Amino acid sequence: MEIGAGNGDGLTALLNSVIPNRVVLIEISERFINELNKIILQHQAASNSTLCIEVYSQDCKSMPFLKDESVNKIFGMNVVYFLSPLEQYLKEIKRVLKPGGRVVFGCKFGSLPKVGATVEFVNVNRHEICSALRRQGFDVSTNKVLVDGGDNEMMNYLEIVGVKACSFAEWEKNNLLAVMESSQ
Ligand SMILES: C[S@@+](CC[C@H](N)C(=O)[O-])C[C@H]1O[C@@H](n2cnc3c(N)ncnc32)[C@H](O)[C@@H]1O
Repeated sequence: MEIGAGNGDGLTALLNSVIPNRVVLIEISERFINELNKIILQHQAASNSTLCIEVYSQDCKSMPFLKDESVNKIFGMNVVYFLSPLEQYLKEIKRVLKPGGRVVFGCKFGSLPKVGATVEFVNVNRHEICSALRRQGFDVSTNKVLVDGGDNEMMNYLEIVGVKACSFAEWEKNNLLAVMESSQ
């Protein structure tokens, strides 16, 4: 699942790699929803794919169309800055993630506008984002992602990864389910 899918860069990358069983995209702006639908139609026409990609024009603060503990992975590139209050978004993310599931925020703090931005950048500090994730019970780590060998500073980004707590019994159940699904 991707939140703040924008003009579909993440979706395009996904369609060029191993595609999971279910793909959900959430984007608050109608304008970008049209872009996303265009990419999906082009992909379906080019590959004869019947893959169902769900697109929701919605604020990801509330995702009533997703059941509790139904999502393996949530990705959001350059979107965490705008999620306010962050705790409320993280609670909803935690609700829909399976135990052991992960949320990954891609961030380019260095290239954020310092003053005069037309949209409000609220979460601009990696330590505060990590602390907010920990308060919600996530296990948190960060990685620097170097794109194309790392030469292009504009492309490189920081990944903040939150893993939802998981008991051994839950982990075993999810992994058995994953093995069963992949053998069908
Ligand atoms: C800077 S753009 C990044 C787009 C894309 N992820 C990328 O990296 O190219 C941020 C995107 O998040 C969307 N967005 C912002 N707040 C959102 C929210 N609360 N729920 C869903 N989408 C949101 C915006 O409409 C915009 O498309």
